[in-house]
Amino acid sequence: MTMNDMLKTTPDFSINAAAALLAEHYGLSGTLSPLASERDQNFKVETAEGTFILKIVNAAEPEVESDFQTALLAHLGTHAGDLPVPHIRPALSGASLASTTGPNGLRHRIRLVSWVEGRPLAETDRSDAALRSLGRMLGRFDGALKGFLHPGALRDLDWDIRHAGRSAGRLSHVADAEDRALLERFLARFAAIAPRLATLRAAVIHNDANDWNVLVDDGDADRISGLIDFGDALHAPVVAEVAIAAAYAGLDHADPIGAAAAIAGGFHAEYPLLEEEVDLLYDLIAIRLVTSVTISASRRSHAADNPYLAISERPAWALLRKLDRMNPRFATAILRQACGFEAAPGARAVAGWIAANRKSLAPLLARPAATYPAALVPYGDPDHPMTQKSAAEQPDAAQAIWEAYCRENGIELGIGPFGEERTVYAGDMFVSRFIEKTRRTRHLGLDLFMAAGTKLFTPLPATVVSVEIETDPLGYGCLIALSHEPEGCPPFVSLWGHLAHEATGCLTPGERLEAGALVGEMGAPAENGGWAPHLHLQLSTDTNLSATEILGVGEARYLDVWAELFPDASTFAGIAGEFYERHGRSHEEIVRLRRDLLLPNLSISYDKPIKFVRGDGVFLIDDGGRAYLDCFNNVCHIGHAHPAVVEAMARQAGTLNTNTRYLHDNIVAYAERLTATLPKELTVAGFVNSGSEANSLALRLMRAHTGRENVVTLDWSYHGTTQELIDISPYKFRRKGGKGQKPHVHVAAVPDSYRAPDDWPVEEHGRRFAESVAERIAEMQARGEGPGAFIAESIPSVAGQVFLPEGYLKEVYRLVREAGGVCIADEVQVGFGRVGSHWWAFETQGVVPDIVTMGKPIGDGHPMAAVVTTRAVTDSFNNGMEYFNTFGGNPVSCAVGLAVLDVIESQNLRGNALTIGNYLMDAFRAMQTRHEVIGDVRGLGLFLGIELVTDRRTKAPATDFARAVCNGARRRGVLMGTEGPHDNVLKMRPPMIFSKRDADHLIAVLEDTFADVARTLG
Ligand SMILES: Cc1ncc(COP(=O)(O)O)c(C=O)c1O
Repeated sequence: MTMNDMLKTTPDFSINAAAALLAEHYGLSGTLSPLASERDQNFKVETAEGTFILKIVNAAEPEVESDFQTALLAHLGTHAGDLPVPHIRPALSGASLASTTGPNGLRHRIRLVSWVEGRPLAETDRSDAALRSLGRMLGRFDGALKGFLHPGALRDLDWDIRHAGRSAGRLSHVADAEDRALLERFLARFAAIAPRLATLRAAVIHNDANDWNVLVDDGDADRISGLIDFGDALHAPVVAEVAIAAAYAGLDHADPIGAAAAIAGGFHAEYPLLEEEVDLLYDLIAIRLVTSVTISASRRSHAADNPYLAISERPAWALLRKLDRMNPRFATAILRQACGFEAAPGARAVAGWIAANRKSLAPLLARPAATYPAALVPYGDPDHPMTQKSAAEQPDAAQAIWEAYCRENGIELGIGPFGEERTVYAGDMFVSRFIEKTRRTRHLGLDLFMAAGTKLFTPLPATVVSVEIETDPLGYGCLIALSHEPEGCPPFVSLWGHLAHEATGCLTPGERLEAGALVGEMGAPAENGGWAPHLHLQLSTDTNLSATEILGVGEARYLDVWAELFPDASTFAGIAGEFYERHGRSHEEIVRLRRDLLLPNLSISYDKPIKFVRGDGVFLIDDGGRAYLDCFNNVCHIGHAHPAVVEAMARQAGTLNTNTRYLHDNIVAYAERLTATLPKELTVAGFVNSGSEANSLALRLMRAHTGRENVVTLDWSYHGTTQELIDISPYKFRRKGGKGQKPHVHVAAVPDSYRAPDDWPVEEHGRRFAESVAERIAEMQARGEGPGAFIAESIPSVAGQVFLPEGYLKEVYRLVREAGGVCIADEVQVGFGRVGSHWWAFETQGVVPDIVTMGKPIGDGHPMAAVVTTRAVTDSFNNGMEYFNTFGGNPVSCAVGLAVLDVIESQNLRGNALTIGNYLMDAFRAMQTRHEVIGDVRGLGLFLGIELVTDRRTKAPATDFARAVCNGARRRGVLMGTEGPHDNVLKMRPPMIFSKRDADHLIAVLEDTFADVARTLG
């Protein structure tokens, strides 16, 4: 039926006639006022019983349609009586519909429904809250109609979104070719999704929630108070309800997608949408507008030139043009997130996967990014001169400012963070396509500022997606996109902007790159889009976006959406989270509180102390996020915070921790595993809490077994912190605060081959140094006494990483045992496979001690220690006195000990220690040929020393040089120590997981530092 036919059958009752109908059919009287309607006749009716609308239906309306309307209202009345929609007032006859014959002889149906309060949404400013409330209202409405069907709902309407393709047939009514092309673009998109519509959930929907059919609370413009006019209700895809409401809400709206998102989010809260429905919304909104403008155009061509029609179309055209300018994928991302879905499928999993697998990523820079001293680049400060120079497109001036800052502050890496609000984006290209009168200001990549030419490597295996040059001023310059598909992670893209153009010749799309492969170099301003040299690194979880579509800067309002589409690349790039957020007390405050609260002789390393907040494998991370390569602290034997240790500890601590007076599996399991690493004679274990306690227990065992007090110890040795151990530690009792040598203590010479008399043949060093022990024994015997024990570290460490000459311990042990003493090997520093070739360093000397003490590395940081000895010694110790140790051997400690042994064995860390140790020794020896100051290089496995001398002939210690190297390495992010009587031996004991890459890192820093110190110390 045409509009003209409709007009002939429009009811035309006078107010009085209508009032008569009201009285006749409903027994009501009141004031009637006519309301506008296109095809029916409506009256507002105010009565004593309330306000109603009297509808006299167009005579041409098929019966099935008014029956449908009535059934729909009745259904809502039954199932959602509280929904603010018109509810039917039955006629006196009890029927929902009455009927009458009009003056023209045509029969009209009549319906009386309740009046819904409120003013049209169209008359308000359509706040976000109101649109969300509208979404909720529609969700409730459609929810109430679930399961409702009526033959009248199945009619053929051009307004049915499934028939939107019919708009193509109306295009001829659109005069302007560009306008037609615009519509054709949307029609083409629609054609691609149309087949999917048939598979979507369908139900009876309102189908026309335009802002004249939606009422807003008179007192609260944020609250929708009613929904009216069900004349277009239809059985259609449910999501069309949202699309249609959003299409109207977007008209003349500054942020139409934001408006749509508010409606969709509200709808979803009441009537959960499916992802595949939300994914169609952008196209459905657009196609509803296409339907609308083409229907108007066709009407206009039928109804001559009605200027009013043209005016009412204008907002729809404007919105279509806006939608055309935006990236549909971004619009969809916004809509998806508004409904609680990921901005792109898999988006959240990508960030999670990267965080969980960060340790396995190859460094993006020559070294892990967190190891460089870094600072924020001041683009977040609009007044900073560097920002102003950059915004004024003077990259060289900006760069000069940055370089001066770096020089002054020792900064090597500038970081421009994700999400930063920036004023540097001055060009037209940064005007928002989503929100009117808004600019894109939030940085969505991660900027890494280093010198032009800095090499960049891919942290993960990759396929090259694209390589291109963007020539726009303030564009990307050379731009590379890589795709990554790590196992267990949704695929994602990494974007590398502002590179040197060279990369275009090196990489080709489709090419595979291994993790760690070169991607390109940072470009100079002339080729990088006109910026101070840096990398703009960005991840995209939407792999369908091309490199140039990926939004480098976004609207603040949608930062949450961008953060999912383009997750912060910091972790991918190896930046530590601590760089962005500092926690806890300042260094100064901690130093002050330590001074006030703690023993004053606790020492602090370095003049400028470091505050570490996290350990991670070979790295310690400070409170500013800088990662230091830990080559010193041998407690973290298998790496800081090793997950296997953490897990074992947490699991056992969460289950049981108690003492050894009860039976438990762990202590015997650990004793079995530990003794299995030792020679067969050493079968009995005792568990304690520290190396000192282990050595104290060893002395008790000695006294019990030999009945003696005398101990032979090596000069410059250290065995622990209790008084009896200080007494046998010349390193302590002979230095500041020491009380000198006790009569039962006998100090033998350090068997330091490097400093042996020149006239001793090397092959005799072992025997000649052992003579010092023989002399001590002879002195005791001259007094009618004998040695209780000889104690020595199997590689004296405090004495300067001294490797015992061949045959030394064999000879010493023979002498001590002949004199009735026992031999104690202190393996507190050197044990647990650190030397690589063996589990225990004494094994390299071909001896078996009577007692072995162990500590530090045993629990990878957990305080535990042990003594292992022979059955004979423990038989003497078992003299009737109970041995009890509250914490020693508890289930948690033993679980940790087992985890450490598991990791050493299962990952062949001893083999690794040997391989990497040899690699480092080769490098150190090569350095020795270049640096006169290196007098001696010593090491086995990952127990290493470099002795520095001012003169290789006199071997005069280069103490200042050694300290300067230690401090210089610290500045370069590497931790080591100095040791030995002259503090001139660089001491290194890196974790057993130290890799070749870590070794290269250490070597490079040492090389750099040696050269630097040589220059500064002359
Ligand atoms: C060789 C040696 N033995 C014993 C100890 C004492 O161990 P702890 O500090 O765990 O008591 C140390 C500690 O530095 C040590 O280096």
